[in-house]
Amino acid sequence: MDTRIIVVTSGKGGVGKTTVTANLSFRLAMEGYSVVAIDADIGLRNLDVVMGLENRIVFNIVDVIEEACKLPQALVRDKRVENLHLLPAAQTRTKEAVTSDQMLKLCNSLRGKYDFVLIDSPAGIESGFRNAAAGADEALVVVTPDVSSVRDADRIIGILESNQKKSIDLVVNRVRSKMIRSGKMLGVSDVSDILAVNIIGIIPEDDNVVTSTNKGEPLTLGSTSAAARAFENVSGRILGREIPLPDPTSFDENGLLTGLKKMFGRKAGRG
Ligand SMILES: Nc1ncnc2c1ncn2[C@@H]1O[C@H](COP(=O)(O)OP(=O)(O)OP(=O)(O)O)[C@@H](O)[C@H]1O
Ligand SMILES: [Mg+2]
Repeated sequence: MDTRIIVVTSGKGGVGKTTVTANLSFRLAMEGYSVVAIDADIGLRNLDVVMGLENRIVFNIVDVIEEACKLPQALVRDKRVENLHLLPAAQTRTKEAVTSDQMLKLCNSLRGKYDFVLIDSPAGIESGFRNAAAGADEALVVVTPDVSSVRDADRIIGILESNQKKSIDLVVNRVRSKMIRSGKMLGVSDVSDILAVNIIGIIPEDDNVVTSTNKGEPLTLGSTSAAARAFENVSGRILGREIPLPDPTSFDENGLLTGLKKMFGRKAGRG
């Protein structure tokens, strides 16, 4: 089994790394792949809550690294989706609790055992991010269409490129068509021109994301909302399917694609 190890990163905080990691982990597992989601945001753990697994944590990533437990003991197995596991972050430790070498060793110990390892990383370009990325072959850079997010993503992409990641793809999150159309938000093509990295997903701004985060039920677990479809399509593209990107200027206020809706006379949110 060829394990794909993908770090989800951004530079700027709060742009959607944890949301992307949770939704893609669920979706890939629902497609039948075995998945380990690693929360490498040590000290600020969040992925457990977004995945709805916070009550089942016994051990965490630092326990594994310090050999207080074995790796399988720390993996929280999801009961809703088969083959989905979470390796939680430690809450009471700092980012320095895990080094790049330890992360690399941990990731390598998962090779051959799972199809996908998705790593949620902390914001910033310091050691926390570098450690999170150390064991990954591929990177998903999450960016929102605003200048500071794009600028931080540019720094991150530079670092990832110098670390020779096999592939770096962009997920443009929280896209608001109305604002793009009125020139108040950067367009997705502006973002891709500036960053010169392949776009693998365009996720609309969607209130359902916030609700799902609060419930601990990622949208890909069953919602048909626009963002859920968009995440499904990102997962499809990760799996190599040819799924065209949506027109980012044609999501309506609910995140649905208005052009298509008109064309077919029904809801057709696709992202
Ligand atoms: N497409 C979206 N539509 C609406 N809200 C969103 C969307 N994506 C993310 N959010 C919301 O934005 C907030 C931040 O998301 P998230 O925690 O995933 O970001 P993060 O990059 O992991 O943040 P941090 O850097 O703090 O770890 C959350 O409240 C989440 O629900
Ligand atoms: Mg996060």
